[in-house]
Amino acid sequence: VNTDRTFGHAVRDLWPLEPGAIYLNHGTLGVTPRPVLAAQAALNEEIEAHPARFMFHELKPRLRAAADRAARIFGGRGQDYVFTDNATAGVNAVLRSIDLGPGDELLITNQTYGAVQNAARYACRRSGADLTTVDLPFPIVGADDVVAALDAALNTRTRLVILDHITSDTALVLPLDRLIARCHAAGARVLVDGAHAPGQIAVDIPALNADWYVGNLHKWYFAPRGCGLLWASEREQASLHPAVISWRLDEGFDAEFDWTGTRNPTPFLCFPNAADVMDDLDAHAVRHYNNSLVRAAADLFAQRFGGPTAPAEMTGAMTLAPLPERLPATHDAARDLRGRLLDQHDIEVSIVAWQGRLWARLAAQIYCEMEDFVRAADAIDAISKS
Ligand SMILES: Cc1ncc(COP(=O)(O)O)c(C=O)c1O
Repeated sequence: VNTDRTFGHAVRDLWPLEPGAIYLNHGTLGVTPRPVLAAQAALNEEIEAHPARFMFHELKPRLRAAADRAARIFGGRGQDYVFTDNATAGVNAVLRSIDLGPGDELLITNQTYGAVQNAARYACRRSGADLTTVDLPFPIVGADDVVAALDAALNTRTRLVILDHITSDTALVLPLDRLIARCHAAGARVLVDGAHAPGQIAVDIPALNADWYVGNLHKWYFAPRGCGLLWASEREQASLHPAVISWRLDEGFDAEFDWTGTRNPTPFLCFPNAADVMDDLDAHAVRHYNNSLVRAAADLFAQRFGGPTAPAEMTGAMTLAPLPERLPATHDAARDLRGRLLDQHDIEVSIVAWQGRLWARLAAQIYCEMEDFVRAADAIDAISKS
């Protein structure tokens, strides 16, 4: 662990963040570090110097090199990884590739990301399968609660289960090893939606033993926006096709995904540059700083406004923090509060209405300090009394 490194505002210049902006929402879109943006700009120049040579000769080996880098970080072999535009595209690729039919059941949770819920709904609509939503308990005491909820929902008709690695609205790290074992024992395959996981928590994808794993490298791994990652177990690769079918149909997993029509490949090809930045910072130290900071910030909110915090073992670099109970617990109120924080205080933070209360989904990145969260709590307090 890089213990010499000072994080916080001292490293903020690594990102082109606007001076004065308090940015407590790294998770939603990511923020790309300057060295990665510089590498991307240089790569764009290189491509434009001879687009045909680059796209038809250089692209493939460079994509494979980037996939090999992903394998060194997230486990397994480069040939088991492909890049997608984002996590949504990876989820759609899997859903269009599996055979579901009437009588089959696709299981999601009430905390599945909304866009993924839609993709699942659409897959069921087209195939005649049933979509079942399992309610995860909230507030949550521990991982056992999640395992019990899933156990109660699995049945002989369950063909596919979509599980978040880290839930979006509630920012909970789910106990995937136990959940996946349960699904497989029930005869269901598992697609993990790890959109928020790489970079936020330590991830060993093959060790999870899922059937497919979808992630984003533009959220927490510093890649340029538009860098999704898709891993497939060897047994699933032959039948897995991209959401967009192009020239390489049936030529193999890597070939199909490495060319899905003409597009800008720089987010994928700059993943190694992003990984270099993470290595320089020390991935372990980054995770440790972010986890400690976000938990301390949530404790501050809980003391100030009263309410529960998430279990430590289910927390990465984001967590829900309770907001004053006098605020109405509606989506409109959440949108209004978020807008006022941004407009009046230059604070960007995600606000969610969940189970009868408003919560701030706090996200810590190494450019944040406790002072930023204190200012957010002060601003929310003032707004709630106005
Ligand atoms: C759990 C989860 N899945 C999927 C996504 C979608 O990511 P993208 O918009 O990059 O496809 C998100 C985005 O926040 C998410 O939180």
